[in-house]
Amino acid sequence: MTIILGCDHGGFNLKNEVIKYFNNKNVDYKDMGTYSSQSVDYPLIAFNTAKEVMKLNTKGILFCGSGLGMAIAANKIKGVRAVCVSDAYMAILSREHNDANILCLGERILGINAALYIIETWLNTPFLEGRHKKRVQMLNEFP
Ligand code: RB5
Repeated sequence: MTIILGCDHGGFNLKNEVIKYFNNKNVDYKDMGTYSSQSVDYPLIAFNTAKEVMKLNTKGILFCGSGLGMAIAANKIKGVRAVCVSDAYMAILSREHNDANILCLGERILGINAALYIIETWLNTPFLEGRHKKRVQMLNEFP
């Protein structure tokens, strides 16, 4: 599975740390930018990353200062269930109950080790289906 990554200037350093981690662990990823710490508008990055996630039917991780703007923007793309997460329990629930397909993290909120732990947890937690399946289907069916 290719993980799609995107960030604005506020999440640039954290994304780079995650890329280093993914390289060490041989995790396949695609980096949608931004590629420098120059100021950039997060909605553009979020839309491109979210579209790529849908196109490849995979998962994505977005980084900004708070994680919030990226989640708001990514959720504009149909089929995306983007969540802004700041601890491992939220990461688990967002996968088990919501089948989240984009994880949004804030560089100003999280240290690197906390972020990496959240990412590992999120990527390795399956959707529980069962009673949650119908609810996620309702989200998908909303025009
Ligand atoms: C950029 O200053 C900041 O607003 C952005 O990274 C993000 O936190 C938006 O939600």
